[in-house]
Amino acid sequence: MKLILLGAPGAGKGTQAEVICQRLNIPAVSTGNLLREAVKNQTELGKAAQSYMEKGELVPDELVIRMLQARLEEADCAQGFILDGFPRTVPQAEALEQLGIRIDRVIDLEVSDEEITQRMSGRRVCESCGASYHLAFKPTRAAGVCDKCGGKTVLRKDDQPETVQERLRIYHRQTEPLIDYYRKQNKLYTVNGHSDLAVTTARTLEALEAQA
Ligand code: AP5
Ligand code: MG
Repeated sequence: MKLILLGAPGAGKGTQAEVICQRLNIPAVSTGNLLREAVKNQTELGKAAQSYMEKGELVPDELVIRMLQARLEEADCAQGFILDGFPRTVPQAEALEQLGIRIDRVIDLEVSDEEITQRMSGRRVCESCGASYHLAFKPTRAAGVCDKCGGKTVLRKDDQPETVQERLRIYHRQTEPLIDYYRKQNKLYTVNGHSDLAVTTARTLEALEAQA
């Protein structure tokens, strides 16, 4: 299964990808996580991507496509994968096709801008391992401490309110056109992402099992 999770920033792509990849036993590939790791390690890619990410802008297609191609060539992706945060522009979707990668399904997690703004303000991420939580909806067991590694949980740099609004503007302009792109290919399944985490997971799994 080669799956794409589409959706606005904060729609819950990463949260759902983490659960679904265990059910399907395929890796979740998050370009956001890969880029944050590169920034943390100050690799050449990380240095080039950092200022775009902090402003909430997209990293140039060429850099992200090269990074993703290298990741998909790794052995664990041979049986399939879940893409979280890629493609985000039409040229990125076209690049997947040019690489000969045939996507089976695209799930669009639909959440309103108002709900997203609320979710982002409560999100906390572990500064060591990147695990993601929410103060109200997915709290850590001990306040401010990552359940997985004991690291400190903090507000993501690009979750400042002004940056969230910029990310939403960019999403509507550059990423939303992909909904039509994949609808025309009969690959699109829309999942209402407003419900709680477990209901959204159940709906996503139903969409995966639905007859194409
Ligand atoms: P990326 O990390 O991909 O950020 P994003 O798309 O903006 O998405 P988020 O990770 O913010 O949200 P999410 O949908 O994963 O939601 P989550 O599950 O955390 O990208 C970051 C940056 O990297 C970009 O801005 C760009 O600069 C760059 N980049 C990445 N990919 C790129 C690409 N392909 N091209 C160019 N640049 C790229 O959920 C959000 C919060 O809500 C959490 O706190 C969660 O606990 C909570 N939550 C989730 N679901 C629910 C629910 N059902 N009910 C209540 N709370 C919920
Ligand atoms: Mg994410």
